[in-house]
Parts: sequence; structure tokens; C-alpha cells
Amino acid sequence: MSFRSLMARSLGALTIAAAFVGSASAQDYPTRQITMIVPFAAGGPTDVVTRIVASHMAQTLGQAIVIENVVGAGGTTGATRAARAQPDGYTLITGHMGTHAAAVPLYPKLAYNPEKDFEPIALLAGTPILVLARKDFPASDLTGFVAYLKANTDKINMAHAGVGSVSHVSCELFNSIVGIKPTGVPFNGTGPAMNALVAQQVDYMCDQVVNAVPQIKGGTIRAYAVATPERNPSLPELPTSAEAGLPAYQASAWNAMFAPKGTPEAILVKLNAAAAKALDDDNVRKRLLELGSDIPKPEGRTREALGGLVRSEVAKWSAVLKAAQN
Ligand code: MLT
Repeated sequence: MSFRSLMARSLGALTIAAAFVGSASAQDYPTRQITMIVPFAAGGPTDVVTRIVASHMAQTLGQAIVIENVVGAGGTTGATRAARAQPDGYTLITGHMGTHAAAVPLYPKLAYNPEKDFEPIALLAGTPILVLARKDFPASDLTGFVAYLKANTDKINMAHAGVGSVSHVSCELFNSIVGIKPTGVPFNGTGPAMNALVAQQVDYMCDQVVNAVPQIKGGTIRAYAVATPERNPSLPELPTSAEAGLPAYQASAWNAMFAPKGTPEAILVKLNAAAAKALDDDNVRKRLLELGSDIPKPEGRTREALGGLVRSEVAKWSAVLKAAQN
């Protein structure tokens, strides 16, 4: 047998062996702990939603899921880390409307493409946006709040979780509708930003409902409206933006799980099934609903549905932010 044909046969055998090992590892997955990147500081909405769902997924998968908060640049630092991770199922990320949609028009040199560099796993929670202010803010309703902002823009500051974060883009939209350009105060997440709002160190914030329900109910911050067509069941007294006189302000976010591109199909199927099972668990549902989340219905939990959502949200927020900046 010539050297060339011997090499060809050996290479063929190696390829088959590698494929077998790959499929075997996918079938045995997971055999060790999984790292779940949360691209914002602990205690914020992305972190809270992730810990609620991942704690149940860990039971299903039989391995610990360790949360790693990788902060910075509106969540794009963590998203870049995840995009570049080994596609072996052991590094995942919870991304959202910011990292996997609004960041695209806001970061011309974004180091990843949300559609091409990730495998969608599952949508975890829809998170309506609230207009929030420090508890002593001198306005009793949204109309008064907007009037005060317009009359005192140079004295006002707005907290957010970095350019391209949900809190940043949601308030960019609000500010453009109202016609103001306040000073932005960036934090590594709206967990720390909420602490600053409660301490009255910042004036207002547009944040995901899951991060605000306890503070609103505890009276440590003010809420003026929820930016969705319907009131939020966890805050039945809070008017919608339309009821409060600003119907143009509609904003809702979502948190979803992704893996690096190239993660084996069998692993993605297992992760999607574990996420879907978590979203059917009574305790997980109770905790997410208490925080005002919208839990996706089964048809909204598929990998295809998440892929379609990312595509449509990149297009939507590219248009919204372009219009807001004009
Ligand atoms: C954001 O985009 O504002 C983040 O979700 C904030 C956070 O999760 O800390």
C-alpha cells in the first residue's frame, strides 16, 4: 500500500473516530459543570432571570451551572467572551434585547454578530420596561415627570447599564420622544444602578420590570408607567404609558440563552429541553411571574423562534435608534 493511500485511510479512520467521540460526548453531555455568562453585574434583571431558570436546569442536567458575571460595554464584553468560547456546551450566555439586538446599530465594530456567532437555545422571559425615578422626584405622574425633565434637563441624570444595554436603549427611546438629552450615568448593570436610584444618587431610569417590583412595592422608588399596551399583573396599579399620556413610548425587553456557534446539535437539543422544562416548573414560574415577567409559551421557546426573534429585533432596534438619533 502506497504511503499516500495509507495516510488517506488513517485520516479517514481518525475522522470517523473524532466524529464518534464528538457524538459520544454530546450524548453524555454534560459531564462537568457548565459556565453561564451573565454580561451584567449580579443582582440585575439579567442575573436574576438567569439564576431562577438555571437553578432548575442544573437539576435536569445533573451538573452545576456556575454563573459568571462578565461586565462592561453594555453587556458586549460578556457577549464577546461567549461568542469566542469553545462550542462544547460548557460556556453559555444569557443575552437579551441589548446584547443580541440593539448593540448591533450602536457598536459599528461589534466583535460578534448576534445571528452568526451564536446558537439560539431558548427565550427565557419577556421583561416589560418601566419608567422609574428616585422616590422624592418632584412629579406625581408621568405628565408632571416629563414636564419637569424638559424644564430641568441640565440638572437631571439618568442611570443605565452601559451603551447598548436594555436600560440605555429603552431610555434613549423615551428621551427622544420627550425631546431631552440628559446626562447618562453608566453602571455595570441595573442592579447597582437600582441601588443608586434607591439612594437617590441618580434621578431616573428605564428598567426591566423584574428589577423594580420589590422596590416599587417597598416604596423606595417611584414608578410612572409600564411601556406596554397592557398593565403588568405584578403591578396592577401602575398605568400604561398610553394611560399616562405618552402612548408613543412602547418598550419591552427579553432575556434568552445562547451558546457559541458550532455547539453540537445534540447538546443544543438537551439545553433547549432543560430550559423549556424549567419554564414549566411551578416554582420557577411563580418567581418569574411575581417579578412581572412574561413567560414564553411552548411555541415561543423553540430555538427557531429565538433565532427569528433576534433577526427581527436587530432590524427593529436599528430602525428605532436611527430615528431616535435624528
Ligand atoms: C440592561 O441591559 O440594562 C441589563 O439587563 C441590566 C442588568 O441586567 O443588569
